[in-house]
Amino acid sequence: EKVKEKVVVKERSVSVVLLAGGKGKRMGANMPKQYLPLFGQPIALYSFHTFSTMLQVREIVVVCDPSYRDVFQDAKPNHHQIQLKFALPGKERQDSVYNGLQAIDSNSELVCIHDSARPLVLSADVEKVLKDGLLNGAAVLGVPVKATIKEANNESFVVRTLDRKRLWEMQTPQVIKPKLLRKGFELVNREGLEVTDDVSIIEHLKHPVYITEGSYTNIKVTTPDDMILAERILNINSGDT
Ligand code: CTP
Ligand code: MG
Repeated sequence: EKVKEKVVVKERSVSVVLLAGGKGKRMGANMPKQYLPLFGQPIALYSFHTFSTMLQVREIVVVCDPSYRDVFQDAKPNHHQIQLKFALPGKERQDSVYNGLQAIDSNSELVCIHDSARPLVLSADVEKVLKDGLLNGAAVLGVPVKATIKEANNESFVVRTLDRKRLWEMQTPQVIKPKLLRKGFELVNREGLEVTDDVSIIEHLKHPVYITEGSYTNIKVTTPDDMILAERILNINSGDT
């Protein structure tokens, strides 16, 4: 713990890759879910503003369809020092991460990958996971699983109950040193390995990934009822009940 307190994420040393390249099929709206309004503001702009006010952030690389670049360009205050860049989305999430990684400044010490579909991430949690990422090379926000999780077979019969005490639900940001992430992509591409999230890229390298305990309110907006939930959480966070 003592060591941890000494870790300082330097000013302007972090590149944020903000993923906004998905189609939002499960939401079933007439536009990608990250642009749907929550209290009038597009979902993707919530975390965009959170990162925009952090001194540790040097640049934000938004991975989005070019037709949506204006959303971010127009939201960026003229005075602020953070550089705004864009990258093209790929077919899968990991392809979008790869494209974002190509755009980052070579002086960055950390890449902070965030789902724009998680508007409610708290800057205090971002600060924690940045520190842990710097200390360990790779860190991800997560929360302990509250439900009982069982493994089933193809016929829907229970195979076993997993030990809840060891289960964590993964969130974002996922924070990784750029060199390590590049090495991970090289290995995954060379061996054609399956990747379900960015951290599994690092797991393939056999490099440890630290889980930083985050907040249950950092939900991913996935289906229509998550829109209602997100607005409720925003109400609570602003002290308005
Ligand atoms: N994402 C991305 N590029 C992709 C796929 C996903 O940038 N090719 C982003 C999404 O915009 C989202 C985040 O990754 O912010 C998490 O993905 P998910 O919640 O699955 O979003 P979608 O893929 O858009 O939704 P769905 O799976 O329902 O289609
Ligand atoms: Mg998806």
